[in-house]
Amino acid sequence: MEFDLVIRNGRVITSRGEISADVGIKGENISAIEKDLHGRDEIDAAGMLVLPGGIDPHVHLQMPVGETASSDDWFTGTRAAACGGTTTVIDFVEPEPGDSLQAALEKRKAEANGKAVIDFGLHMTITNAETRTLSQIEGMVNEGVTSYKTYSTYDGFKLNDAEFLQVLTTVHESGGIVLVHAENDAAIAYLKARLVAAGKKDPAYHAVSRPAVTEVEAVTRALALAEVAQANLYLVHLSTAGAIQAVRTAQTRGVHAFAETCPQYLLLDERELLRLDFEGAKFVCSPPLRSAIEQPEIWEGLADGTVSTVGTDHCPFFFKGQKELGRDTFTKIPGGLPGIESRLALLHTFGVRTGRLSLPRWVDVCSSLPARIFGLYPQKGALEPGSDADVVVFDPEKKVQLTRSKLHENVDYTPYEGFQLTGYPVITITRGKVIHKDGAFTGAAGSGRFLFRQKGDYGS
Ligand code: URP
Ligand code: ZN
Ligand code: ZN
Repeated sequence: MEFDLVIRNGRVITSRGEISADVGIKGENISAIEKDLHGRDEIDAAGMLVLPGGIDPHVHLQMPVGETASSDDWFTGTRAAACGGTTTVIDFVEPEPGDSLQAALEKRKAEANGKAVIDFGLHMTITNAETRTLSQIEGMVNEGVTSYKTYSTYDGFKLNDAEFLQVLTTVHESGGIVLVHAENDAAIAYLKARLVAAGKKDPAYHAVSRPAVTEVEAVTRALALAEVAQANLYLVHLSTAGAIQAVRTAQTRGVHAFAETCPQYLLLDERELLRLDFEGAKFVCSPPLRSAIEQPEIWEGLADGTVSTVGTDHCPFFFKGQKELGRDTFTKIPGGLPGIESRLALLHTFGVRTGRLSLPRWVDVCSSLPARIFGLYPQKGALEPGSDADVVVFDPEKKVQLTRSKLHENVDYTPYEGFQLTGYPVITITRGKVIHKDGAFTGAAGSGRFLFRQKGDYGS
């Protein structure tokens, strides 16, 4: 068979293991994985790893926050993702008061269409448990939206326990999964008020106002409520050892709970918030960066299966003009870090090369498991005949010193400035087309499509 494109001589890494083979692509799909394939175009991947494209299950592109918005739009953000080896992102729909879920979904899709350079899915945010909201969920599942984001904190977003139970039940009955941002709202409000009253307004107090126990408590409670409702639960951006332990215990009891962490909780710690001249604001996100003491347990959870995915929670704000909105008090600093571009490479250097993660586990947490949990597998997250030809050629020996100017994110800093990496994506292919080569973006705005997602694989 003549292929359109063949990636030859690489080490093909999937979540199932490793083989030496060529990857044959016809049109937009993988067609064969065998030895000695030939095609119209060929890429020599000798010495390279060949992986399914990364799937980032947690990003916030052009997300309104107060008087500003996250600084990567659907073009710049997905371009950065592509240059970092990510070929699918899942972002969020945040319905405005009065909007139906359907109308909000259409608005968000319209923002992405014509701009996104890689395929994208959307989680639906649910901010109340009114009958008129819950009754729309079944319809959303039929629109390819099978995951629902909830918050236990943030005014205008937070659900109480009774509301959370209702959402868990409705989503479960429609075959979907609930995501939760779990932090104890009352404890945070209490601590924030006391800090501000005492004049403690520097960026470092952001972390003091949201101590580890506020996450551990809310995660433990969310797990208990999922157990009561016998529903599927996905805990976003876990940052504490205590939360990982709570998830592990719940999973042992049979709760269908999945945990996500992010590179920032594995690699950065709260000392960054102490940087002088307000530079600590660059590291303000929620949950906050923690003590480095928390990190070994999170790595352990990633390795042993307690933690299923690494998302980025990419939510960039320029230091100049955006983070600076909080110069007079940390409560006004827009929360979020950039990171959409560096996830695969960071996890390779600090996960694979340190021996914490095997190559297949790296692919699993960065690609295959997000695809399985969010109803995209094996269209995405796999290298199998019939899968979308979303492929990354990754040079495991390439040395890169991370610096803002090398990245494509639309923001004036990277929290990983100066990080020394070994291993970097050199080619990114989406649906059969090379859209990134050696740091240069070669794709086109609007080539990404909305992904109609199936019900996920939640275990049985
Ligand atoms: O501070 C963060 N993480 N901002 C993004 C929104 C969220 O809570 O995930
Ligand atoms: Zn969150
Ligand atoms: Zn987020």
